[in-house]
Amino acid sequence: MARIVGGIGSSHTPTIGFALDAKKQADPVWAPIFEGYKPVQRWLQEKRPDVLFFIYNDHVTSFFFDHYSHFALGVGAEYAVADEGGGPRNLPPIKGHPALARHIATALTAEEFDLSYFQAKPLDHGCFSPLSVMWPHDAGWPGAIVPLQVGVLEFPIPTARRCFRLGGALRRAIESYPEDLKVAIVATGGLAHQVHGERAGFNNTPWDEEFLDLLERRPEELSGLTIAQYAERGGLEGAEVIMWLIMRGALATKVKKLHSAYYLPSMTPIVTVIYEDDSPVTAVESDAEFRERIGRELAGVERLPGTYPFTLDRSVKAYRLNHFLHRLIEPEFRRRFLADPEPMFAEAALTDEERDLVRRRDWRALIHYGAIFFLLEKLAAVVGVTNLHVYAAMRGQTLEEFQKTRNAQVLYSVAGQGAHIKQ
Ligand code: FE2
Repeated sequence: MARIVGGIGSSHTPTIGFALDAKKQADPVWAPIFEGYKPVQRWLQEKRPDVLFFIYNDHVTSFFFDHYSHFALGVGAEYAVADEGGGPRNLPPIKGHPALARHIATALTAEEFDLSYFQAKPLDHGCFSPLSVMWPHDAGWPGAIVPLQVGVLEFPIPTARRCFRLGGALRRAIESYPEDLKVAIVATGGLAHQVHGERAGFNNTPWDEEFLDLLERRPEELSGLTIAQYAERGGLEGAEVIMWLIMRGALATKVKKLHSAYYLPSMTPIVTVIYEDDSPVTAVESDAEFRERIGRELAGVERLPGTYPFTLDRSVKAYRLNHFLHRLIEPEFRRRFLADPEPMFAEAALTDEERDLVRRRDWRALIHYGAIFFLLEKLAAVVGVTNLHVYAAMRGQTLEEFQKTRNAQVLYSVAGQGAHIKQ
């Protein structure tokens, strides 16, 4: 079974990554940053977690306001370092853990937390700034991450209480995962700082100290504060510290603090803490009962013939192919596709199997492989085939045979104004 080995709290200011990249270890102004992370490095080295569940927020790098969500769970196989304006930092990509992420998604959804899912998005300094100082990576990262991006930038954002409760559900989700895995929960952000407006430069060390004390001993009190109260005490951007409540909620009622460091060099305090459980955590249902309950929504669907729910499994496996087909909504992309798709297959790094499926328009095999139907209807529209052709082909029938099963003999597609339907 998977096991939570403890929790880490860390600021995620870009300063931390900058200090590392600029090799400031011996500079007295920067040295306290590295001192603060040494116990974290040692703890991670000693505990050897297989996975870090990494709670952070993106800073309008990979997540924009065309679609902004509260809790975005990373379900992908690998995460690259984001370019935030001057090229990505020179760090290797880090592996994800799609199977654990899928289990967590299923469990949290069953507990009525509404998540969104992401993959193939690079992670910005919210993740890699502290991660690069915590975990060695010159020869590759020692483990994987499951990132959780919390939307704390566009109001209304999740409440502190929602974050704390999410942590409790997260614990059960992780510890019911059947594989033997050691998981550490890492929460990032804060502490008190403000970076915008006339109040830019606001800090509040006494509040930071009180926050850390409450987080350790009485986290429920922190979950009762409003975002405005966090902003008043810790600056508006400092309110992102509600993410630490997710980590704390995933730990026992009583924790022991193994480490705490605080250093305020410029705009944002650089803070690190390590907690481990110090009281038992008892589950109200057995792992088997819990897994049965969270699997209930899709239980039995496998018995429906010719039915393939678009699960995270399929989404991760067929991501490149679906992404390729999705780009057919771009006029220039589909123009090139109709002229000569071969160089585009190479650019998109599609496998031979994927290329073959698209070339042959093998609608049934595309579904079996993991393409979602709503991208097949786009491909059909582009190549001048109707939806009815696709339905018939998926059933292994001719169009005429399939039409006999319909009440009216109509043909349609989603081609819009570009419709040029082959009869
Ligand atoms: Fe942040």
